[in-house]
Amino acid sequence: MKLILDQVVAESELIRVMTFRSASGDELPAYTAGAHIEFDVGSAGKRSYSLLDWPTARDGSTAGRPSGYNIGVQREDAGEGGSQAMHALNVGQTIEATAPQNNFALADGPEPVLLLAGGIGITPMISMATALQQQARSFQLHYSARNASRMGFAESLKTAFGDAVSFYFDDTNPLDLANLTGSLASDTKVYLCGPRGMIDAARSAAVAAGIDEESIHIELFTSVETQSGDTAFEVEISASGQVITVAADQTIIEALESAGIDVMYDCQRGDCGICQCDVISGTPDHRDVVLSDAERASGKVMQICVSRAKTPRLVIDIS
Ligand code: FES
Repeated sequence: MKLILDQVVAESELIRVMTFRSASGDELPAYTAGAHIEFDVGSAGKRSYSLLDWPTARDGSTAGRPSGYNIGVQREDAGEGGSQAMHALNVGQTIEATAPQNNFALADGPEPVLLLAGGIGITPMISMATALQQQARSFQLHYSARNASRMGFAESLKTAFGDAVSFYFDDTNPLDLANLTGSLASDTKVYLCGPRGMIDAARSAAVAAGIDEESIHIELFTSVETQSGDTAFEVEISASGQVITVAADQTIIEALESAGIDVMYDCQRGDCGICQCDVISGTPDHRDVVLSDAERASGKVMQICVSRAKTPRLVIDIS
């Protein structure tokens, strides 16, 4: 799709809400809560942003019938330049984007829902809270930020969702995960979105409180980072026997694509599960957040967008 930037509103010192409309005037595809679109930000690559849907959008736009797409972009000065490139867009400029995709959808059902957001991970949760409110389903939204100046959307959240929202600040009122998850009904569906540290801690706390891992859904707000000590390894494609070297600063997907092999993937953060492959031999070094502890321990599947190898060679099935 070609989109045109229609409006920019500063939500906080670092966060801007950007509204895009169709550049051609065609109707925009509908989406569901948790969906994202991916923008082509030129030399900074592709960047995904969750779509924001409020119960009372000023222009009447809804997820089911959008007149525009709203996203919240937090400027990351230490990042790779994607958010800075988005902030540098001027009203009236056009940009290429994919149609909405959703790897973080709400499951149907009557069970209570816990939405837990860290930082800019609040953006998909706003649309989820809107959808849950429209469906008259029971939910709690817990939103944590480093401090008050880093938190966007607080006033709008209070207006839209009242007592269903709780706010936490690392410096003055930190989130107590054990206390929060300890009070949940065992059939609660949990949705987590935020930075890696918060996600890992929240998932562990929820599992310790008796929540089934299948009921915990995750979206990360970080991109792949190499770790010091990462080394090259080989990947063998089981069907063809082709062997590809994955360099220390490459992901398996990048190495496969460089070798002309197409694979399915989306998030490239290890949270959507789309790139999952069977492991025939070798030991994966799991770095995703989508597999359960049991799946990780089995070593039989892996996410090739982020995970690496603990053995010199992995044999994988990418069919
Ligand atoms: S592409 Fe999403 S987990 Fe790999």
